[in-house]
Amino acid sequence: MKEAIEQIMKELAGLKAASQKEVEEARIRFLGKKGEVTALMEQFRTVAPELKREYGQKLNELKKAANARIEELKFSVEESEVAQAPKEDLSMPGDSFPLGSRHPVSIVRQQIVDIFRKFGYDVAEGPEIEDDYHVFEALNFPPNHPAREMQDTFFVSTGHVNPLLLRTHTSSVQVRTMEKQPLPIRVVCPGRVFRNEAISARAHCIFHQVEGLYIDKDVTFADLKQAILLFAREMFGPETQIRMRPSYFPFTEPSAEVDVSCNICHGKGCNICKGTGWLEIMGCGMVDPNVLKASGIDPNEYSGFAFGMGVERIAMLKWQVNDLRHYFENDMRFLGEFATATEV
Ligand code: DAH
Repeated sequence: MKEAIEQIMKELAGLKAASQKEVEEARIRFLGKKGEVTALMEQFRTVAPELKREYGQKLNELKKAANARIEELKFSVEESEVAQAPKEDLSMPGDSFPLGSRHPVSIVRQQIVDIFRKFGYDVAEGPEIEDDYHVFEALNFPPNHPAREMQDTFFVSTGHVNPLLLRTHTSSVQVRTMEKQPLPIRVVCPGRVFRNEAISARAHCIFHQVEGLYIDKDVTFADLKQAILLFAREMFGPETQIRMRPSYFPFTEPSAEVDVSCNICHGKGCNICKGTGWLEIMGCGMVDPNVLKASGIDPNEYSGFAFGMGVERIAMLKWQVNDLRHYFENDMRFLGEFATATEV
């Protein structure tokens, strides 16, 4: 047996292999079920007890050596295969990384903000997790107004006087601005808002708004109308007309809803404007004296106007997208449509 072990050791040392196949053949020859090393291990049972210790040790060494040698061969075959592989073709075109584009909601939000910046408005932002005071109380919402109910608002914490909630509109940023900024104030406040709505083509629980606020001495409804007309013409084209319909918001008095002439049929009536020739774009009004007072502004000295619009709504009208859900699903086929739509 001793000689057999030495013989195999020698053979292992001289073993060569040119391919993975030959390495595998060598493995089977020595270590396979019927391999030479395996056969010796089996013979070990017949070794005289006084020699078992010595031979056992030798056999273990042999097995280890065989495994190591096979691994070594495997590694060197792999190395030489890599070295022999054809060199890369440097003239091949590279992988392309398609350029992303801005999301249509970001594009329109930026367009709205840019238009008002041209008119001299600053930009203000506020927290998305707000308190009841800034979203409702300071904006003159009566205590039992339905917007204060669970079914319309996502509450973060309840059970105390000023619960935390996800803001339902960016009008809360008006309040924060009035609290800290010296007068006169001229700001637009873009941001994300949250409402407890079932998701459909026309409603979503997350969307974006741009709020506007202008407070100074002698600000009138005529100033409001002019600001909105200028905005509408920048946004939808120089021929655009606006009309205002009386409405109600707790934080403005008087309040109005603004429609623009339909930019598809130019007032003739189509299915986008449902045959009316007009499209609703925002709410607005003169800031209610109670709102000014709540933020420490004297309504006898100052007056102001405010307006608020939905960014997705403006984007829908600009690009005739008839399902709000497209804006949140991140379907590349939809997003790719806006790759070049960066201009007003
Ligand atoms: N906050 C209103 C909403 O979310 C929008 C709005 C209407 C804002 C009239 C205003 C405004 O500032 O004057 O529906």
